[in-house]
Amino acid sequence: MQIKPLSRSLLDWYKKNKRKLPFRSTNDPYKIWLSEVMLQQTQVNTVIPFYLNWIKRFPTVHAVANTDYEIVLKYWEGLGYYKRCLNFYKATKIILESHKGQIPCDFQSIIKLPGVGDYTAGAVLSIAFNKKIPAIDGNVTRVVSRLKKIKNLTLYNKKIIKKTVHSLIPESEPGNFNQSLMELGALICLPQKPKCHKCPIKLFCKAFNTKNPNKYPSPKMGKINPHFNVVVGVIWRNNKFYIQKRNNDSMLGGLWEFPGGKVKNGESSKEALKREIKEECKIIPHIGRKVGLINHSYSHFSITMHCYHCFEQKSRIETTLQSNWITPNEIESFSFPKANHKIFKLLDTYGWDI
Ligand code: ADE
Repeated sequence: MQIKPLSRSLLDWYKKNKRKLPFRSTNDPYKIWLSEVMLQQTQVNTVIPFYLNWIKRFPTVHAVANTDYEIVLKYWEGLGYYKRCLNFYKATKIILESHKGQIPCDFQSIIKLPGVGDYTAGAVLSIAFNKKIPAIDGNVTRVVSRLKKIKNLTLYNKKIIKKTVHSLIPESEPGNFNQSLMELGALICLPQKPKCHKCPIKLFCKAFNTKNPNKYPSPKMGKINPHFNVVVGVIWRNNKFYIQKRNNDSMLGGLWEFPGGKVKNGESSKEALKREIKEECKIIPHIGRKVGLINHSYSHFSITMHCYHCFEQKSRIETTLQSNWITPNEIESFSFPKANHKIFKLLDTYGWDI
């Protein structure tokens, strides 16, 4: 079938202008899948070093599936949205057990893997297996909304976007075409100030003929993220401090952390810390010098984390599978959330001494 003029213009532009990215020089479905999972909610430049490091340590699906999760997670530490890592890990095990180690190349099978939704399925199948399937992320949604002058991203309009992309994908280069739409969104068809003068498909674009192409699609009503005060304790036993592991299924699942929690209304930081340590560690701590505070933003909320040195009083905390006592030199052997690393940095800067 003939390539449509819009698709031809976009593909030609992509070939000349695409960024050289490490996952663009491979046909390996495993590497393409990994890159697409890492790129969800994360900037390309942030992903690159994580991707390269991961591929070096885990060059195949087998390498991931045959390694303990604790070690695998260390290679995701700092990338955020840790559920992606757990899902990817679970999926590699399923691929070994049920797909003879081969990443499924049909939609019905790949979509069943943990963490694989329409976008990831479309991206992997089109890029690695040349299947004519749309891969619609935020960038593609914006580009096509402008092409079609779509304002509201209703379910109906999302279907139109999908149909439009499907009708534009050339049989010969589905992967390149899907990526050309993403690349146009990343480099030219920007959310606020689109560079329409540089756009290879402006003559096909209905929004280009309006005064404000950036009005399409209209932004979602932004919710204001709540802010919480959190308090954590560095509980000392001789030269070691206490850490606990978060449940795999929780936010920041599988990572280690200092014990603590949210400060409730009307509570002081120290009262909250005593209460939280009593609840989590079953001891009443003695609270010592304040280490300091850090600020951190997550996708849906932000925190100020206050940190205090603490000591066990009388009853001593039992070590369990989910807890450990470590020296500052052992930090590198565990995975921690970014907020915890900020506290480590405070301790490095102002001294670990109690
Ligand atoms: N974002 C997600 N996947 C991408 C890809 N393959 N190329 C560019 N940006 C992306």
